[in-house]
Amino acid sequence: MKRLEGVSIALGVGGGIAAYKAVELLRRLVDEGAHVTPVLTKNALNFVGLTTFRALGSSEPVVSLFEDSSPIPHTKLGQGVDLVVVAPATADILSKFATGACDDALSTILVSTDAKVVLAAAMHKEMWSHPAVMENIETIRRRGFTVVDPEHGRLAGGDVGFGRLAATEVILDAVVGQMATRDLAGYHVVVTVGGTREAIDPVRYIGNRSSGRQGLAIVSELLDRGAHVTAISTIDPALSSSYLEVVRVESAIEMESATRSACKDANALIMCAAVADYRVESPLVNKFKRGSGNLPEIKLVENPDILANVVADSKMYSQNFITIGFAAETENVEANGRAKIVKKGCDILVVNDVSREETRFGSADNEVIILSADGSLKYIPLAPKREVAAGVVDALVERLLSIEFEQ
Ligand code: C5P
Repeated sequence: MKRLEGVSIALGVGGGIAAYKAVELLRRLVDEGAHVTPVLTKNALNFVGLTTFRALGSSEPVVSLFEDSSPIPHTKLGQGVDLVVVAPATADILSKFATGACDDALSTILVSTDAKVVLAAAMHKEMWSHPAVMENIETIRRRGFTVVDPEHGRLAGGDVGFGRLAATEVILDAVVGQMATRDLAGYHVVVTVGGTREAIDPVRYIGNRSSGRQGLAIVSELLDRGAHVTAISTIDPALSSSYLEVVRVESAIEMESATRSACKDANALIMCAAVADYRVESPLVNKFKRGSGNLPEIKLVENPDILANVVADSKMYSQNFITIGFAAETENVEANGRAKIVKKGCDILVVNDVSREETRFGSADNEVIILSADGSLKYIPLAPKREVAAGVVDALVERLLSIEFEQ
């Protein structure tokens, strides 16, 4: 799902060496479904060409207040957008925005809009640490606008320090975060993703057909709703966000230890991973070669039930920890689900029928029943995994709110 579908954005570009990075941001914003109008300062044009922004933007770029047929282009654009993001926001732009000064298209739009504003600061390190700049940023933040801090790194002229424009992903997250429902801001959720692999020898393993797609959709949904997420994953999530910590694991034993330790300071666990129920008791140290004598017998032993163990842990630590399990069933889906939620002791169980072609492991869509320990049931008909993720996260939010209400 595109995270900025239907959102109208003015992308301001200031005159700094990082202006070229605004091209990548423009592309990502458009890819996420936003309608983007680039607004460049005259100084930005010393660093980047208008043609690039014309080619990639959704509307004609704006540079001057006086070339549009409308006599008041700044108010027209300022009123029409949902968000203004400026990257790079130079010391000059921050100063103008803090004091309300406006002498060009970008500064005038910033002062004439009541849309959300995200400013991704970038400048030389001496400028970034100057008290005037610091005070301007304080003023801007106090008024409720977002400033994305620059990173430490290489700057223009070979200097190194704080002042480099934040990564595109971080700016994109700040924009998405402004537009999304942030009902999980301040919550920490642990999600397990993918199928575990149980080693037979250094090159072979016992695995399963889980693709991890549903787990990744849940991670994305949680991030968009403002949660801090720890993903305990057997696959590379290919997602980056300052709110996401990824712990890569392979086996059920590794997943168990990472999950139990991450849950200690979390509000919820969503146990989406397909965990192998059995592992090889003694994996071979060296690769087993063809013709090296009798075929080895693979003796299996039972893996710990991670979900059940976290449920037991959470009863010790806090009454308020929410546990969500998944169950893949091939028959009597609802009845088996009801039995499993009791057996596992979790608060919510998401049950899906993997016998069907459309909802098999690895498919793009899913159809689930969300069962709650209190007996209530919600059915989500066949939908893309991201929509199913939204339903699962809604169930989590409902449960969190009801616990807070009870207290
Ligand atoms: O018992 P079953 O494997 O169907 O339960 C599925 C749920 O339990 C999933 O949430 C899965 O992640 C979790 N599970 C687990 N540890 C295991 C096996 C499954 O946490 N060893």
